[in-house]
Amino acid sequence: MSTAELAGKHLVLGMTGGIACYKIAELTRLLTKAGATVQVVMTDAATQFITPVTMQALSGRPVYTSQWDGRVPNNMAHIDLSRGADAIVIAPASTDFLAKLAHGFADDLLSTLCVARDCPLLVVPAMNRQMWSNPATQRNVAQLRADGIETLGPDSGPQACGEIGDGRMLEPAAVYEAITAFFTPKTLAGRRVLLTAGPTFEPIDPVRGITNRSSGKMGFALARAAQQAGADVHLVAGPVALDTPWGVYREDVQTAQQMHDAVMRAVPDYDVFIGVAAVADWRVDHVSAEKIKKTADRRIPEFAFVENPDILASVAALPHPPYCVGFAAESGDLDVHGEEKRVRKKVPLLIGNLGPLTFGLDDNEVILFEAGGRTKLPRADKQSLARALVAEIARRLPDQSIIS
Ligand code: CTP
Repeated sequence: MSTAELAGKHLVLGMTGGIACYKIAELTRLLTKAGATVQVVMTDAATQFITPVTMQALSGRPVYTSQWDGRVPNNMAHIDLSRGADAIVIAPASTDFLAKLAHGFADDLLSTLCVARDCPLLVVPAMNRQMWSNPATQRNVAQLRADGIETLGPDSGPQACGEIGDGRMLEPAAVYEAITAFFTPKTLAGRRVLLTAGPTFEPIDPVRGITNRSSGKMGFALARAAQQAGADVHLVAGPVALDTPWGVYREDVQTAQQMHDAVMRAVPDYDVFIGVAAVADWRVDHVSAEKIKKTADRRIPEFAFVENPDILASVAALPHPPYCVGFAAESGDLDVHGEEKRVRKKVPLLIGNLGPLTFGLDDNEVILFEAGGRTKLPRADKQSLARALVAEIARRLPDQSIIS
């Protein structure tokens, strides 16, 4: 089976008139790349902004614009196009189209298709700030929400008309994130998850330091998967070159001590802690305030090291610890070290990386160590693995009602 995030999902992508139509080309590409089939339906106004030819090329399917289009087998495009769809997404959704939806109008193919649907409907508004804040629009949006229609965005910022404010369409990547989140089972609804990710950087002097090759990809993928599963997520990240996952609260730190302090400050508010960071075990005991220079006699500098705090063990040793999950990257004998590390750190679950060379790679193979034994998960890319791990963690959490 494909592990693509939206494999097997069929979406009807309805486009209405607005300059944001150009963003839908990119959205279509993201959706199809993730394995979804995308059936584009455009209003007449949408075709003024981008052509059906472009959308057909990107979606790989004929585009429908007219209620009277005879290409569907029984000539009922307004019914047939949404049957079998997992959702209809209207992007961009114009002021006019939101008003039509709120009142149940069905005077063109797309609006009729929405009224005749038997699947969820998501709308992605895009309009001028005055049009968005107009009381009629706000009334219509409130009505759509009351009718169970999901609204994604809008964003705030500069608009095509030159004004600045609420109403601009979410960026395609954000719409993509919201759509995948929509399809993710909410196994962590109501949970608060704190994670560490990436390497730490332990300075030696103002320009040098000790770090490691952790890319942060696994921790960021887990933060994203937890957020999509409905959790409130706080990610404490060492120095990495990764974008913050949509909807995740991120706090950047450099050193192990800073990571420890950030975690200990936040942890009372969280019910799950996942330590994914590759925390430096040692730091130099004296950081030089000046750049260390070569001396005339070419003397090699010597450093004394002190041990950094163990963040995971500190959290697990709290009087009322959250559910703690550790990670272990070992260069050999994972079976022995994994369980030994779990017991030493006093955590209920430890995830061991099989093979030492996972730093920076896109896929991974892991074993779960817990008191009851061990479970191997199949090799997968880090996003799929993160989804699987979130499901495994969610199954093991104590009943929410007994968390204080
Ligand atoms: N960890 C931590 N703080 C540290 C060291 C490790 O929170 N100072 C966490 C990591 O985030 C990971 C787990 O502990 O979840 C195991 O990390 P690892 O580096 O494998 O363990 P160490 O305790 O450093 O053991 P060793 O390096 O001796 O194998």
